[in-house]
Amino acid sequence: MAVLMNALMLFFHLLSLPLQLMEFVGIYSLYKRFFPFLVYKISISYNKKMHDYKKELFSNLAEFAEPGGALRLLEVGCGSGANFQYYPRGCRVICTDPNPHFQKYLQKNVAENEHLTFERFVVARGEDLSPVPDASVDAVVCTLVLCTVQSPARVLAEVHRVLRPGGAVYFMEHVVSDPSTWTYFFQHVFQPLWYYFGDGCEVTRATWTHLEAANFSELKLRHIQAPLSYLIRPHVIGYAVK
Ligand SMILES: C[S@@+](CC[C@H](N)C(=O)[O-])C[C@H]1O[C@@H](n2cnc3c(N)ncnc32)[C@H](O)[C@@H]1O
Repeated sequence: MAVLMNALMLFFHLLSLPLQLMEFVGIYSLYKRFFPFLVYKISISYNKKMHDYKKELFSNLAEFAEPGGALRLLEVGCGSGANFQYYPRGCRVICTDPNPHFQKYLQKNVAENEHLTFERFVVARGEDLSPVPDASVDAVVCTLVLCTVQSPARVLAEVHRVLRPGGAVYFMEHVVSDPSTWTYFFQHVFQPLWYYFGDGCEVTRATWTHLEAANFSELKLRHIQAPLSYLIRPHVIGYAVK
């Protein structure tokens, strides 16, 4: 089976050659203008299917606010702000994303979520959150991002830095399936094309290993089979406390 999988991977790598070439000459970067529209549309259906999981995941967010203060929340790789509806009333939100073209869609979600205070949008990669001071936020949210970043370990180190002691990072990420499954097989076969469709997204990441290796004092993580298309069905969700 491994031989067949590798042969098909090679085939899809070859199919993706024009895309690789477009990336090499810089044309693929035009996709970054269209990608936010795609994410905005997809996140509406993702939220419908994952509503109960998100509601449950974010249900204790408010507990991380310091006594008498509003929850200070940083969202890394915020995209269109699809998580805003799950944040507690009065929460103060800073958003970061390396793609400035998300701002238009982010503003739509800001306008629809008057229960929170939107502070600012910062164009930054999760690997370098230097505009955000050390220990300055109570919670960080990172959903469907660690599949795309160049270095999950560096992003988690930055998240750890900006969190105050006792603060928490919340995550919801699709991950690689168990090697005994067909999902694992097809995740690897389609990965070369998926990468371009998903603006660098990898469905073959064992993201939980990075969360386990990061320097958090407590990790609440569970593996679920999300009610989504099979390539992104395996997810890890939970939070880690600094
Ligand atoms: C699939 S979208 C998810 C958006 C949003 N978090 C959500 O749950 O709807 C992936 C996001 O990760 C962002 N991203 C890509 N590379 C990144 C990096 N190195 N650091 C932070 N975010 C990144 C993309 O620009 C995009 O907004």
